[in-house]
Amino acid sequence: MNTKTPFPYQQQPSEDWPSPDALKYIEEKEIGRGGWGRVYQVFNPMTGESYAAKRSLILNVTGYREGVTGYREGVVPPAEIAYLEADNLRLGEHQLQLKHMELFRLGAVIREREALKLLNGDPHVIGYRGQRFYVADGKLFSEIAIEYFKSENSADMLSGGIDVADVGRIIADSATALKHCALEGIIHRDVKPENILYQKKDVPGHGTAKVIDFGIAQRRKGVIFQEGFPTEWSRLVKDLDRPKETIIGTLMYLSPEQVRVEQLTPAINIFQLGLVAYELLTGKGAFSGSNDAERVIADVQWYNQNALQQLLNTVRNRGFSDENLLNALYRALEPTPQRRQLEPLKTEAENLAQGKRASIVIQCAAAPAEHTPSLLPGRASEAPEVSHFDVV
Ligand SMILES: Nc1ncnc2c1ncn2[C@@H]1O[C@H](COP(=O)(O)OP(=O)(O)OP(=O)(O)O)[C@@H](O)[C@H]1O
Ligand SMILES: [Mg+2]
Repeated sequence: MNTKTPFPYQQQPSEDWPSPDALKYIEEKEIGRGGWGRVYQVFNPMTGESYAAKRSLILNVTGYREGVTGYREGVVPPAEIAYLEADNLRLGEHQLQLKHMELFRLGAVIREREALKLLNGDPHVIGYRGQRFYVADGKLFSEIAIEYFKSENSADMLSGGIDVADVGRIIADSATALKHCALEGIIHRDVKPENILYQKKDVPGHGTAKVIDFGIAQRRKGVIFQEGFPTEWSRLVKDLDRPKETIIGTLMYLSPEQVRVEQLTPAINIFQLGLVAYELLTGKGAFSGSNDAERVIADVQWYNQNALQQLLNTVRNRGFSDENLLNALYRALEPTPQRRQLEPLKTEAENLAQGKRASIVIQCAAAPAEHTPSLLPGRASEAPEVSHFDVV
């Protein structure tokens, strides 16, 4: 293997990326925290615009310092980060020493960037602005700039009580986004309330939802995001994309195929959106009956028609007796991926959004789940250990 492979970053900062001068004046505040990083709202008074910056720690680079060139100190106060000129960045032979989780994190930010680029322009997927890598405190970070969307995530909304028309809008808009994902062959793998943002309007059902967080997205049929990617990196990230015995996803929102470590298709997007619809309608996660990971995984693994009927009964008992809505949920939550359908759910969600069904405010039935890491411990000995998550 060529040990001089350049770091997989070939893209110049996009033109709308703030210039170093403008960056002296930026103001930022934390707006979210997740598995591997933090999300900030960045305000640039020079242009009057806001964007969101998703910062993820990739790896500790203290030991690689000498191999890094084109590194300028202190260009971006107040975070005291150093900007790395893309073309000059080399980790040289050191890159092959990256540990499994470092590679996974690197793969995650590149997958997220590529997915966002492919979907850019979709009104229901967060807009992409650019990506850069930088060093701060001897650590290499990725920063993905995305459109700032003044909103709440659906999980927070649910804990405050949510109007059923807004549930309809969230599901209908997300369905539009996931349809686009399917057309591009993108499997999000992490559709859950935290990853759907909603901007409310005065009239329930008239807001806008956007899908975020493509950190563990993959492409159908093993086609990975190739752009700007030397072959060796492609292979490495591809292996990490499709590990043999590792379950990748968030515990409470896994599809049966993820748990069975089968070949994934965009049908898992449909199943996961069905789970979100179920949760937003009933105030309780479909698989949140137990806190024991093994137990939840077993429930998903053995998920079948009986379990599906039980879920539908719960929805019915919460006052949703409309057969079209129940049938739409049935189609989305089908245990067999090939039989799942997104369209009926989208149609019925649109009906809810337009107030064609009962007007109800749904309250959270249980305390919202703690943030769970997006990568679950696998079953085989080669699987990454959870202790590798230094920021969970
Ligand atoms: N563009 C945005 N505008 C406003 N708020 C955002 C935006 N992006 C993210 N957020 C907030 O930050 C939270 C975390 O964002 P995101 O899900 O992308 O990161 P994450 O969960 O840390 O990702 P990962 O699982 O890849 O580590 C969201 O739930 C949301 O509350
Ligand atoms: Mg997230």
